[in-house]
Amino acid sequence: MEPTIVRASDSAITRAARLLRGGELVAFPTETVYGLGGDATNDTAVARIFAAKVRPRFNPLIVHVPGLAEAEPLAEFDERARMAARHFWPGALTLVLPRRTEGGLSFLASAGLDTVALRAPRHPVAQSLLRATGRPIAAPSANRSGRVSPTTAAHVASELSESVALILDAGPCPVGLESTVLDLTGPVPVLLRPGGVTLEELTDLLGAIETPQTDADAPRAPGSLPSHYAPDLPVRLNALEARPGEVLLAFGPEAPSGFADVLWLSRTGDLAEAAANLFALLRQLDRPEFSGIAVMPIPERGLGRAINDRLRRAAEARPGNRGRPRRS
Ligand code: TXA
Ligand code: MG
Repeated sequence: MEPTIVRASDSAITRAARLLRGGELVAFPTETVYGLGGDATNDTAVARIFAAKVRPRFNPLIVHVPGLAEAEPLAEFDERARMAARHFWPGALTLVLPRRTEGGLSFLASAGLDTVALRAPRHPVAQSLLRATGRPIAAPSANRSGRVSPTTAAHVASELSESVALILDAGPCPVGLESTVLDLTGPVPVLLRPGGVTLEELTDLLGAIETPQTDADAPRAPGSLPSHYAPDLPVRLNALEARPGEVLLAFGPEAPSGFADVLWLSRTGDLAEAAANLFALLRQLDRPEFSGIAVMPIPERGLGRAINDRLRRAAEARPGNRGRPRRS
């Protein structure tokens, strides 16, 4: 059964809020990617999220709130965390903080950790939905575990079907990459996942930030397993010349010749534009008539860090650890 996609009107948001309060799942737009939402205080709803995504239970979920006022009862905010929230919320920053047990969050959402990841999204539909629901909403990206995150309602519908009661459609997500995940449980902030808020912006506000190499041996964010964001086709990075049958994701005005097709992340070399296009273009190019997806070099600064992080994970992917069987 295909889930219902509805334009995110006021009445649709009211309906979605009613479904969420009843323990159902609703997919909704945020400024980063579409989320698969469930009542974060309801164990059954949270369990449904893990089942719908086929997500390992050791990988905790982000809990969404309208703002700092609603977040404070759920976690222990020190002055540094308050400062980060005041500066970047609502926005593409997720803060990992010590969880308050009396906050009423489902333990399952934290996957057994004594911390919780909190975010106040900026998107007006997400804000309206959170306020209409009146409860914190647990929402991972609305894709099957290990696949590319959805930046349109159609992407959501193509991967998650009978488990979702409703998909709220507000067009493509403006940022296009997931939020930055920052761990503030220790003395030095730790960047667990680069994302929509840049390391440079965080450093300006908070000073030194630890940036562990999230390699296969030491995944710091439980979800930052190496083969996330995997299309079916192999992905080749820093491509400067064509290989037979490859398509190219180009960045900047000049693209090397000889590719089966060329699509631009950004012709002007604009990292924000490239971020917004990345996931939709990866999906669009992931077709069996091509032999692989080549990507031109992307500068490792600003949003380029998050883009390169997702591309490296896509390039790491191997048939054996993908979310669905590889096409032959
Ligand atoms: O932009 C986003 O963050 C989107 C939208 C829907 O808000 N959500 C999202 O959720 O990307 P998800 O579940 O796909 O990614 C959440 C990441 C995972 O890498 C997870 O391991 C990490 O945050 N995370 C969640 N709770 C954590 C915790 N308590 N400690 C460390 N990492 C945590
Ligand atoms: Mg995800």
